[in-house]
Formats: sequence, structure tokens, C-alpha cells
Amino acid sequence: MTGVNKGIIILGAASAIAEAAARIWAAQGARFVLVARDPRRLDVIASDLKTRGAVEVAAVALDCSKLNADVELDAMVKKLGGLDIMLLAYGTLGEQKRLEADPDAVRELIQTDFASAVAWCLAASAVLERQRSGALLVIGSVAGDRGRRSNFIYGACKGGLARLVEGIAHKLAPIGARAVIVKPGFIKTPMTAAFEKRGLLWAKPEAVARVIVKAAERGGPVVYAPAFWRWIMLLIRHLPTFIFNKLDI
Ligand SMILES: NC(=O)c1ccc[n+]([C@@H]2O[C@H](COP(=O)([O-])OP(=O)(O)OC[C@H]3O[C@@H](n4cnc5c(N)ncnc54)[C@H](OP(=O)(O)O)[C@@H]3O)[C@@H](O)[C@H]2O)c1
Repeated sequence: MTGVNKGIIILGAASAIAEAAARIWAAQGARFVLVARDPRRLDVIASDLKTRGAVEVAAVALDCSKLNADVELDAMVKKLGGLDIMLLAYGTLGEQKRLEADPDAVRELIQTDFASAVAWCLAASAVLERQRSGALLVIGSVAGDRGRRSNFIYGACKGGLARLVEGIAHKLAPIGARAVIVKPGFIKTPMTAAFEKRGLLWAKPEAVARVIVKAAERGGPVVYAPAFWRWIMLLIRHLPTFIFNKLDI
């Protein structure tokens, strides 16, 4: 019962992956601050988590990409009386072709998927450093491991985030606090609604949630979800360029 009475902040609590992780923690008796843009969706998720065993659920409706992360986070940590786990789950995929033709859309994507996430991660790192305990979990993507033509702008944000979280993990390790970048592969969620989801590589949000909950306790600083993506990405990262360039991925 690893999540008993844990104080957990989830940024992007309406994400299918985040919700699946929250359900596991709720069953363990966790306390939550849930952050998402839609207050009605937040109310529904909060009631569901209470029925599943969450001891306390506070909901904060806000756009995570537009605010003072450090001030907001300190208020949330105060509400919980300390921070055991922060899960940064929000993100947007964007549409590669449109992004390549629209610099404003690129700026917006970078603000959501990278710039604001950096601010939240640094704010969380400062809290964990003060406490000398706790874990920061950030959802990155296998798309961040090697740039490819179908999604390299989103991939650049996730790749940058991975380097940041690795660095925070390295900084926190000597004092007993942790940071982990979780890299999902293809997951059946609203984000990938437009994709044809056939084949063995597609997993459900619950599979990523199990990896996240385990990573909150041990392991990292890099974990793949499901775990077999570690081997796929090892291969992809090391494919010679002349072969990689022929792949339509
Ligand atoms: N699904 C996949 O195949 C896959 C693979 C690799 C990585 N990921 C990553 O996994 C994470 C979770 O995504 P998901 O698959 O669970 O998809 P999802 O259900 O569509 O969740 C994405 C969530 O991000 C929220 N969000 C976006 N911008 C936000 C903002 N500015 N402020 C607050 N919330 C914001 C969305 O909120 P609204 O509901 O308000 O729009 C939505 O709830 C993302 O970081 C994504 O990049 C997903």
C-alpha cells in the first residue's frame, strides 16, 4: 500500500493516463490536488477518486501553460502539508504539417509542452530539495528519443523535457529526493483519437499508469511505458541514418 496518505499533485489531471494513475493511488488512500482546465471535468474526476478511496481531493481549475508555476505550486503544497509526488501529465500533440507552416502554433506548442513544463519542474525540484524527499514524475514520450519527420516539433519538446528531468534527478539524488521521466509509446487516449489503433504496439492508459505508480517509489530516472519500448527505442536510436531515412515513421 505504497500511496497511503501520500500528498499528490497532478497537473493535467483530466489526461486519460493521469486519471488511470490517480485511480490506483486513490485505492491506496492518497490525498490529491488535481489541476486541469475544465472545472466540470475536474468535479467528475474528484468524485470518482473519492468513491475509490481517496482521503482528500482538492480541485484547481487552471491552464497550466499560463501562470506563475512557483507561486501556484507553493500554494498547492501548503494545501497538502507537503509534497510526496507530483505528476506532470498535461501536453498537446499538435499536427506536424500545420506546425511547420504556422510559427504561432509552434510557439503555443512549445509553451505548453516545454516552457511551462520547465517552470513547473523547477518549482517542484525546489520543493523536493527543501523537503529532502518526494518524487517528481513527468510524462515525456518515445517521440523525444530520435527526431523523425512525422512529429519532430512535439518530439523536440519531449526530448528537451527528458534532459531537464534527468538533470533534476541527478541534482536530487544525493539528498534522497527523485525525478523520473516516463516515456510512453503508442497509447489509446483522446490525444491519439485520430490514429488507427491497430497492432501489438498500442497499449491502454492503465499500462502506463502502472509504470508511473511504480516509478513513484523506485527506479528511473528514465522509464519506458510499457517497458518493451526501452528495447524498441534502443534499436531506433542506433539505426544507421541510411536505414532510418528510408523508414516512413
Ligand atoms: N497517448 C499517447 O500515445 C502518448 C504517447 C506518449 C506520450 N504521451 C503524453 O502523455 C501525456 C498525457 O496524454 P494522454 O495520452 O493521457 O492524452 P489526453 O487524455 O488527451 O491528455 C492530455 C491532457 O493534457 C491537458 N492539457 C493540455 N494543455 C493543457 C494546459 N495548458 N493546461 C492544463 N491541461 C492541459 C488536456 O486538457 P484538456 O482536456 O483541457 O484539453 C488533456 O486532459 C501527454 O503529455 C502526452 O504528450 C501520450
